[in-house]
Amino acid sequence: MKNESPKKDNSYLKEVEQEIKRRTEEYKILHEITKISQNHNSLEVMLKSALTTLVGFQELEVEHKAGIFLADPDKKELNLFCTVGKFGKEFMEKEKTIPYGACLCGKAAISGEFLTSDSCFKDDRHEHTFENMTGHGHYIVPLKSEDQIIGVLFLYTDENPPWYIRSKEILVSIGGLIAGAIVAHKREKEIQEKNEQLNELNELKNKFLGIASHDLRNPLYMIKTFSEVLKDGTLGEVNEKQKEISEKIFNASNFMQGLLENLLDISQIESGKIDINKESQDINNSAKQQIELIQLLADKKNIQVYFDPGEIPNIPYDTRAISQVLGNFIGNAVKFSPPESKVLVTTEKLDGSIRLSVHDDGPGLSNEDQKLLFKEFQTLTARPTGGEKSTGLGLAICKKLIHLHDGQVGVSSQLGKGSTFYFSLPLDK
Ligand SMILES: Nc1ncnc2c1ncn2[C@@H]1O[C@H](COP(=O)(O)OP(=O)(O)O)[C@@H](O)[C@H]1O
Ligand SMILES: [Mg+2]
Repeated sequence: MKNESPKKDNSYLKEVEQEIKRRTEEYKILHEITKISQNHNSLEVMLKSALTTLVGFQELEVEHKAGIFLADPDKKELNLFCTVGKFGKEFMEKEKTIPYGACLCGKAAISGEFLTSDSCFKDDRHEHTFENMTGHGHYIVPLKSEDQIIGVLFLYTDENPPWYIRSKEILVSIGGLIAGAIVAHKREKEIQEKNEQLNELNELKNKFLGIASHDLRNPLYMIKTFSEVLKDGTLGEVNEKQKEISEKIFNASNFMQGLLENLLDISQIESGKIDINKESQDINNSAKQQIELIQLLADKKNIQVYFDPGEIPNIPYDTRAISQVLGNFIGNAVKFSPPESKVLVTTEKLDGSIRLSVHDDGPGLSNEDQKLLFKEFQTLTARPTGGEKSTGLGLAICKKLIHLHDGQVGVSSQLGKGSTFYFSLPLDK
């Protein structure tokens, strides 16, 4: 086999050396611009440092003078966003906004093509001229992201420059990087603004909730107290009928007070201000109390709420929070069940927790509805059967309150076959 002797020509070696140098610099510039585009600086700082890096790209042999236009596709205009290097006042004024199609940059904005221009004096596409303009050429780089023109970047060269061999390839890649960074920056800003708006709205809502509930509290308190003295006969003899009615007023206002507290709780949970004071106690007692309260409402629909308390140890929980959960679970069972049906509340001890379940013979829940349960503002297929109000907040509050106790909520149900809502709370450690 014949060995080919390696070429020992000096110029060839130099050529290889030169090529390695170019490739290294290209790599460095790309790396640098990628890094810059990932920084969380302001858009202006980011684009200016990208331009500074780019004009320092030695192989490109450009002047220390460059700029970026951002596109306004609705108005079909380019707006000068930032520059590096020296630009005269006239330039800054005239180039502040240019229409699509005007001069080299405007043309690149329409075609999306990378352009080079040998001389501002000889190139017809270079339409804009300035006083004391000296001969120069340009690299014009469209900033494209997902085929959308985000802007145009321009670089200055000498007149009739030695165009860099891979300039198109490299500059188009860099244009893509910069465009992507601009888009990401805008999105980030939009999300930030949206988040701020949402937070403000949420705070406003919580404030409103707080004020509304607070303002309703006093009149309700008065109704409750007056009905109490009436029913107790403190203000004088009342007949059976009057007694019965004032009792009803008392019970209703009592119930309303609970609702009002629910509202206040939403605002408190949402603003992270809720206090959970756990006390070791028998949850059967809390359940019994809630059942008695709810039975008053269930009577209207001839629904009987039964209680089958299990033998369970005391567990630590916040009375108000858990009563609220009980109230909603049992209240829902009554609210969504047809008249003359039954509701059964049971408690049992499991491994490491106790579980309270509320079974009803109501409409049950489809799989789709079950996925939405326990989320805010979900009023699902089942509607109240006795004209009760429905806000779709109850179960979302319950879930949060139970989670604050390190417990779990759940449901097992089949459409048309009733539902069992349950929650578990951990045993005292
Ligand atoms: N026991 C139940 N049986 C059938 N559907 C129920 C039951 N409990 C709750 N739901 C459904 O879940 C929705 C959300 O309940 P909830 O968050 O307590 O709000 P609200 O009681 O104000 O409607 C209800 O509107 C109802 O459609
Ligand atoms: Mg409810």
